[in-house]
Amino acid sequence: MKKIEAIIRPFKLEDVKIALVNAGIVGMTVSEVRGFGRQKGQVERYRGSEFTVEFLQKLKLEIVVDDHQVATVVQAIEDAARTGEIGDGKIFISPVESVIRIRTGERDSDAISPVESAFPPRQGDRDGGI
Ligand SMILES: Nc1ncnc2c1ncn2[C@@H]1O[C@H](COP(=O)(O)OP(=O)(O)OP(=O)(O)O)[C@@H](O)[C@H]1O
Ligand SMILES: [Mg+2]
Repeated sequence: MKKIEAIIRPFKLEDVKIALVNAGIVGMTVSEVRGFGRQKGQVERYRGSEFTVEFLQKLKLEIVVDDHQVATVVQAIEDAARTGEIGDGKIFISPVESVIRIRTGERDSDAISPVESAFPPRQGDRDGGI
């Protein structure tokens, strides 16, 4: 299993989410983050002049998948998040040792498997049960 962390432009979230669901992911976490890349938050800077480092608003997506899904998921993020301008973001991939689905006690690949039944979530489940 691998964790894919993607830093993206906030306005790209909807496109990336749709691409990821179409790519077969079954869960993800999104956080608001601030950061800078190699331009240090500046669109441009001039040689010899002073410059400041600015944090820019980004979103961080975290998706844990089986190894065989990594290439598909990364490609989906790349295609959906790219504008071609500086600051499009980055994707980090790291190993994941263990996953536990708390409700069932399932472990690892079983714990990141799709829904077990076709029943819709119960009315009143605040998180939709999924
Ligand atoms: N080395 C890094 N480590 C951790 N986070 C990073 C790193 N590089 C970039 N980020 C995060 O990704 C965001 C977007 O980075 P950005 O796309 O500007 O990267 P870049 O390497 O400068 O590429 P580009 O030249 O396309 O702008 C940053 O605001 C920061 O949150
Ligand atoms: Mg940059």
